[in-house]
Amino acid sequence: MLRHPGPDARHDATACKAQGVSIVAPTYREADNLRALAMRIRTAMAAASLDWELILADDDSGDGSEELALELSRSLPVRFHARQARRRDLSQAVLDGIRQARFDRLIVMDADLSHPPEQIAELLAALHGDAEMAVGSRYAPGGRIDGAWGRYRTLNSRIATWLTRPLTRCADPMSGFFAVDRHRLPEPDELAPVGFKIGLEFMVRGGLRVREVPIRFDERHRGSSKLTWRQQLAFLRHLFRLYRHRFGLPVRLLSFGAVGATGLVVDTAVYLGLQAVGLGHLLARFLSFWPAVTWNWRLNRVLTFDDRPPTRAVGQWTRFAVASTVGLATNVGSYAALTSFVAPFMARPLLALFAGVAVGSAANFAVATHFVYRRRGADTDSE
Ligand code: GDD
Ligand code: MN
Repeated sequence: MLRHPGPDARHDATACKAQGVSIVAPTYREADNLRALAMRIRTAMAAASLDWELILADDDSGDGSEELALELSRSLPVRFHARQARRRDLSQAVLDGIRQARFDRLIVMDADLSHPPEQIAELLAALHGDAEMAVGSRYAPGGRIDGAWGRYRTLNSRIATWLTRPLTRCADPMSGFFAVDRHRLPEPDELAPVGFKIGLEFMVRGGLRVREVPIRFDERHRGSSKLTWRQQLAFLRHLFRLYRHRFGLPVRLLSFGAVGATGLVVDTAVYLGLQAVGLGHLLARFLSFWPAVTWNWRLNRVLTFDDRPPTRAVGQWTRFAVASTVGLATNVGSYAALTSFVAPFMARPLLALFAGVAVGSAANFAVATHFVYRRRGADTDSE
C-alpha cells in the first residue's frame, strides 16, 4: 500500500514529523553518481533544515551500488532497497521505494543528478493550498535544460509531452522530479504504470492538482541513459492506458477497430496466399478466417483489453471465435435484411454492406467486452 504504511513499518511518531522528507530515487547502474547525489542532498537538506532519508530503489544493478549505499548509510540516512522483480522497471521501483518511505512527504527524483537536489525544498514548499503535487518543470516559464540536448532528444521530448496534452494541464508531466504527499496518492490497485512515467501516472489516475516549479535540468553526471527505444514503446503503451482510463469507451472502440483493420490485412493476405498455392477461393475464404480471428484475439488481449483480468488463452480464444462468428452473422444478416426489406438500401447495396460492417462490428465488440474479456468485480476504468 502506498498511503498507509503497514503495521510493521518503522512509522513511529517522531518519524512522522511534518518537516521530514523521503526522497525516492530509482537506480539502475548509477554507482558512479550515488556519492555525489547523497552529498548534494545532505548539503541541500541541511540548508533547508529538513529531516530526510534517501531511498535508492535499485533493480539489481550489480555495479557496486549496493556496497556503496551500505558505506554511505553508515554516516547518512541512505537506504538501499534491492528489488526482487523479474523485470526491471523504473515506475515499479518508485512504487516500491514509496512503500518503504518513513515520511509522508515524498520526493521522487532521478539518481543521475539531472534533477538538482538544491530545489527539493522549493518543490516541497509548493505543496500547499490546493496543490496536491509539485512538479519540477523544465517547460514552465523560468525552467531550463542545461547541457547539449541533441535535436532528436529535444524533439522527442516535445512530442512526448504534446501527446499528454489531453491528459493533464501540466507543461512537463514527464520531468521525473516531483513532490507529493503519500496520502494523496491513488491506491496501488488503481495504478498500472509501465516504464518511466510514474509522475504522469500519479497525476492522471490520481486526478492530482499540480503546481509547477521551474527547474534547471542538468545533463546526467556520469554513466549512460537507460532510455531505450523499448522504453519509448513502453511510453506509447502507457499513454494508451491513460487515454483509455480518461476517455473510456471511445478509446476502447477505436483500439478494437484498429485491431480489426489489421486483422483484415491478415485475412486478405492468407486468403490470397492460399489461392496462390492452389486452393479454391471458397476454401481459402473459410480457412483465412481463423488466422485473422487468432490475430485479433491476441492483439485485443494485449492491447484493447489488457486491463481486464488475464484468463486461460484457450477458453478465451474460443469465446472470441464465437464473438467473431456472431459479428460475421450479424454483418451478413443485416446486409441481407437491409437489401431485401429496406427501400433505401435495396438500390444501394454498398451502403448496406457498410451498415452491415458497422452493425456486425458493434455486435462483435459488445460480445467481446462483456463475454470474452470479462472485467473483474470493480473496474477502475471510467466506463
Ligand atoms: N530501479 C530502476 N529500474 N531504475 C531505473 C531503471 C530501471 O529499470 N531505468 C532507469 N532507472 C533510473 C536511472 O538509474 C535514473 O536514476 C532514472 O531512473 C532515470 O533514468 P535515465 O537513464 O537517467 O533516463 P533519462 O535521463 O533518459 O530520462 C529521465 O529524464 C527524462 C526527461 O528528459 C527520466 O526522468 C524520464 O522520466 C524523464 O522523462
Ligand atoms: Mn537521466
